[in-house]
Amino acid sequence: METIVSGMRPTGNLHLGSYFGALRNFISLQENHQCFFFVADYHSLTTHPHPKDLHQNVRTILSQYLACGLDPNKATIYIQSQLPQTAELYMFLNMNAYLGELERVTSFKDKVRKQPNNVNAGLLTYPTLMAADIIIHKATRVPVGKDQEQHLEMTRTFASRFNKMYDIDYFPEPIAYNFGNDLVKVPGLDGSGKMGKSEAEGNALFLVDSADIVRKKIMRAKTDAGPKTPNEKKSQEIENIFLLMKLVSKQETINYFEEKYNDCTIRYGDMKKQLAEDMILFTTPIREKILEIESDNQYLRKVVSEGEEKARASADKTIREVREIIGFKSF
Ligand code: TRP
Repeated sequence: METIVSGMRPTGNLHLGSYFGALRNFISLQENHQCFFFVADYHSLTTHPHPKDLHQNVRTILSQYLACGLDPNKATIYIQSQLPQTAELYMFLNMNAYLGELERVTSFKDKVRKQPNNVNAGLLTYPTLMAADIIIHKATRVPVGKDQEQHLEMTRTFASRFNKMYDIDYFPEPIAYNFGNDLVKVPGLDGSGKMGKSEAEGNALFLVDSADIVRKKIMRAKTDAGPKTPNEKKSQEIENIFLLMKLVSKQETINYFEEKYNDCTIRYGDMKKQLAEDMILFTTPIREKILEIESDNQYLRKVVSEGEEKARASADKTIREVREIIGFKSF
């Protein structure tokens, strides 16, 4: 059994891509491992959210993950800011994190380029906070995508630096949990890459989208001029529509449109109509669950306080030991 930690950024609604990606992995991991999943609200302060929005963002992401099957009876689900031990460990790690290595992190360089007017110390030390999140529970595995690989590498650096510095084999060096081929590709509706990658209006289908919105977005999805010769290779746009169909439609529906495509009689309008209805059947129960959980404050409060208690037991132990190792002793 591994100890697993992962953070969820409170940045708006979950789309279908996150559902078939990170979420499904979390849900399968919680069955067989000791999992800690938290809402990364300390991290979100780097972008200076309005106090009014901060809580709502946390609430939204928490409700959505719970509605999708993250189970507080199986995993420890908590809010990062309710575990100040993380902030203490972050401070300790920062004492041994060097400006040069932090400045070289790709995500930091991106931010410097994109928001030159807000290059704060929190952004620079994002990797030390993330390392603290992970090693506070002495995690061995972290289920994250490729874009987080460098941060995880830094986590290993900080963990092993601590071990070396105090000549103790204390923190494990966590590695990525690789889902490899299990990853389902969810394309966007704008005819290009991954859902959620582009900010383009209407590119992503959100789990909370109403039936009307789902219909509208899908009907507007990019298509092409249609196949001219039998068995023509599909354009990216059309491939994407088929990929989305594979996620939610019956095999016979997919076969039907494959045949129509291959003999050049396909009408994209019909295909999109069918996709929209199948999508609505798939997302409606999830959407209803989200709305139910979001309005059930008592339930949310219970989840969060039980999560906090379990996370605290684990973090407290680490912090007590770390203080001891560093040399803070009581009189
Ligand atoms: N950086 C992660 C992201 O952008 C979120 C995150 C914060 C995280 N702390 C973490 C992920 C610890 C895994 C473990 O998605």
